[in-house]
Amino acid sequence: MSMSTQSTGVRDVFTANGSAPVEYRRVYVWELPVRAYHWINAIALTLLIVTGYMIGRPVRIAYAAEAYQQYWFGWVRFLHFASAYVYVFNFGARIYWGFVGNKYARWNNFFPITKKQQKEIVDVLETDVLQVKMHGEISTGHNSLAAFIYFLTFLAFCFQTITGFALYSSMSNAWLPHMFKWIVPLMGGEMGVRFWHHTFMWFFVAFVIVHIYLSFYHDYIEGRGTVSSIIGGWKFDRVGSSEEVKKAVKR
Ligand code: HEM
Ligand code: HEM
Repeated sequence: MSMSTQSTGVRDVFTANGSAPVEYRRVYVWELPVRAYHWINAIALTLLIVTGYMIGRPVRIAYAAEAYQQYWFGWVRFLHFASAYVYVFNFGARIYWGFVGNKYARWNNFFPITKKQQKEIVDVLETDVLQVKMHGEISTGHNSLAAFIYFLTFLAFCFQTITGFALYSSMSNAWLPHMFKWIVPLMGGEMGVRFWHHTFMWFFVAFVIVHIYLSFYHDYIEGRGTVSSIIGGWKFDRVGSSEEVKKAVKR
């Protein structure tokens, strides 16, 4: 389909869907631990970005009180460290769930190893990014491209945790930060660690903007409850539209 007729094409499909009854199956995709992880992570990461940005670029607020009588910046830093711990242990729980959770939560989703996953990545790029064709098969869980991006995000989580605890090691006596002390000389001193820790914040800012946009985009285009799935856990599959549903219906 050419680019110029794309929008009409999509509208035609919507009209057709609207007028013809379509059978849907309700599928429990995201279990409670995945959903809890998602929202704890979203809240912790938002706090980390906001407080981290403030630490990197402090504002000078003119107060009547003397500097030594104030502690607001201390609270900003405290919030950064407290949410850092929540975020790290929450991520640890998700790693565990990748081994014991249902098939949509498992680690093999996140690496495009099979031919089917690789084909889906090309399909999503052609459909949702380049918009040169209509949708092919739609995965019930993460689509393979989204899953691979989440995998890169998990790597960034690790990097931010390592550099964060390395910075924290000089101001804490706890064992956890001290495990990362050796990173500091490796990155050419604290200034180097700060630089990378700061730079990676922008990766998360970009991810969050694109991720929220895409969640609503898929919700609208596919019409099967993508956004509500990360709240309640359920998605809707068109009967006959995915291989998996075909198999389930046959049983
Ligand atoms: C993805 C999550 C995180 C983001 C977006 C983030 C962001 C930031 C940013 C932008 C800064 C300021 C850097 C600068 O000086 O320019 C900072 C500082 C810092 N972050 Fe994070 N951070 C995250 C996770 C963590 C974690 C897991 C820890 C572990 C304890 C941590 C510990 C620290 C420490 C110790 C500082 C320096 C505080 C200071 O100098 O007062 N951060 N963070
Ligand atoms: C700081 C904000 C956020 C971060 C860091 C984030 C991160 C993530 C991650 C890492 C996953 C993969 C989950 C897993 O398999 O464990 C995910 C999935 C998902 N997120 Fe978020 N998220 C954020 C905010 C949001 C918001 C506000 C929405 C809703 C509008 C949303 C909707 C979704 C949906 C629908 C999925 C499942 C997508 C799929 O079917 O592949 N997220 N998110």
